[in-house]
Formats: sequence, C-alpha cells, structure tokens
Amino acid sequence: MIKMIELNKLKLLAQGGQAEIYELDENKVIRVLRNKEDEEYLKVELSVMKSLKEKDKAVPTVYEYRKIEERPSLIMERLNGDSMLEQIRKSPLQILNYAERLATLHMEIADSAEGLGLISINDRAAHLIPKSELLEPKLKEFILTILSEMPRGNDICHGDFHPGNIIITKGQYYVIDWFGATSGNKLSDIAHTYLILRNTPRLPGITGFQNFIISRSASVISGRYLSTCAKLQPFDRSEFSRWMVIRAAERVFYGSPFEKEALIKFLRKCWNAQASGVQANRWWQFI
Ligand SMILES: Nc1ncnc2c1ncn2[C@@H]1O[C@H](COP(=O)(O)OP(=O)(O)O)[C@@H](O)[C@H]1O
Ligand SMILES: [Mg+2]
Repeated sequence: MIKMIELNKLKLLAQGGQAEIYELDENKVIRVLRNKEDEEYLKVELSVMKSLKEKDKAVPTVYEYRKIEERPSLIMERLNGDSMLEQIRKSPLQILNYAERLATLHMEIADSAEGLGLISINDRAAHLIPKSELLEPKLKEFILTILSEMPRGNDICHGDFHPGNIIITKGQYYVIDWFGATSGNKLSDIAHTYLILRNTPRLPGITGFQNFIISRSASVISGRYLSTCAKLQPFDRSEFSRWMVIRAAERVFYGSPFEKEALIKFLRKCWNAQASGVQANRWWQFI
C-alpha cells in the first residue's frame, strides 16, 4: 500500500518559483508544484531526469511521480548542500572558478533528447513570442523572421541553467530544476544562461550598492562562463546572438516583471543594428 503523504505534517525546506520542496525523510524530498495545471511539465521533468541519470549525468535520482493533495509532485533524492549561488556569496574570491565550473557542467550535462518527447525550443518560442503584448508588431516580425531561420537541434536544453539551480553535495555538482526542459540546439541554452547572468534585474528592497555588487559579479561570471564555453566548444557568434534575441523575446513573455524593460531595450538595439547594417555577430554585446 502507498503511504498517505500529508504536506502540513512535513517540513518545508525551500520554495522556488514553481515548486515547494518538502522533507520526506533523511534521504528524500518531495517537489510539489504550486500549479495543479502543470502536470505535463512535471512528467517531462521526470522523464528527462530519469534519462540523464541512466547516462550517469549529475542529477538527483527521481523515485516517483505522485499527486499529493491534487498537486503534481516528484519524490527525489535529497541533496544536502549549498547551491552554487550560495557558495559564490560565501567565497566571492572564487568567482572565476565557479564560472568555469558552471560552463563545464553545462557542456557536460546536455545529452541527446531522442525519444523523450520534449517540445522543441523553436516551436515553444514560435508559440510564446507572438503572445507578448509588450513587443510591438514590427519588432515581433524582426524576431520571428530570425526564429524561422534558426537551426533545430536535438540536445536536451535545461531552460533555466544558472548557479541557483546547481547543488553541491560532497564536492559533486548536481543540476536540479528540469521543469522547463526542451529539445534544441545546445547553443540556445548557453545563450539563455548568458542572458540571465548579464541581466540580473534590480529587485525591490535591494539598495543601489548591493545592486551594483550583484551586477558586477554577474558580469564577471558571465564573461568567464562564455569564454569557457567557447573554449570547450567553439561556436558561431552570429548564431549565438540570434539565439539571445529569441530567448530574450521569450522571457519578455514569461520572465519576471523586473527584467523585461532591459530585455526589450536589448531587442530594440539588435533590431536597430540590423537596420543599420551591423552584423549579428556583434549583437550579443548589446545586453
Ligand atoms: N533534490 C533536492 N534536495 C534538496 N533540496 C532541493 C532539492 N531540489 C530542490 N531543492 C531546494 O529547493 C529549491 C527550489 O527547487 P527548484 O527545483 O529549483 O524549484 P523551482 O523550480 O521552484 O526553482 C532549490 O533551490 C533547493 O534549495
Ligand atoms: Mg530553481
């Protein structure tokens, strides 16, 4: 018989944007989604994590999918340790090492998305970008034309790869939070990480000085992250820039309100650059 799980009897360990994490026991946690409608996404997360684990990739073991109090949930291995973000805060002098680690991990973790039934990043973008009311029609047209020319890939793309989604346990780095995984070209996922590292939004309650420190360290991390990725696997800067345009436009739809203004500014700069003949291989510098 399956044991009943009552959330109000469990300890709440953490809360993220999509989910709450409860302690089930010493070795297991339950990731419980906030939104009952997101069942399909959690099943995607389950199949991606299982497949990565079978290939010995650094993700926690997932044990079971369940509905708990009608909310889609995953029971998974408990990882005791800081996130990379917390580690960076504790040891800021190690920032460049962490940036290199972030890049290496990103290059290593992705694998073939064959047979996983993931939505392609190209299709998801084609679905989300037209929905955004913050992008004027002509700007949207510029973005969607670029999208129509982007190559399709078949790598697993994490969708939210950043230091907060990496947990360090006994010196080993694990990647969590596969909720937004898609299939596509790995470069699109690297472009996304670079974009969110560069554009750490100013949050309410954070002073100008703190914000300065956060954005300075983010720009240090982003630079070393990108140069390490390029060293491990050289890529075309024009394709990279164009993926940044696509991923920025997607986030104008689904991102946090604090980041959108800067994203739209970036998109406008790229659009103007194209109009005045500046090649796409330079657009990535506009963020
Ligand atoms: N397997 C795990 N073991 C221990 N803590 C976890 C585990 N998975 C997630 N957490 C904690 O919960 C937080 C939110 O989890 P995450 O999967 O990133 O959810 P969200 O999609 O809401 O960001 C993480 O930052 C981490 O502190
Ligand atoms: Mg997360």
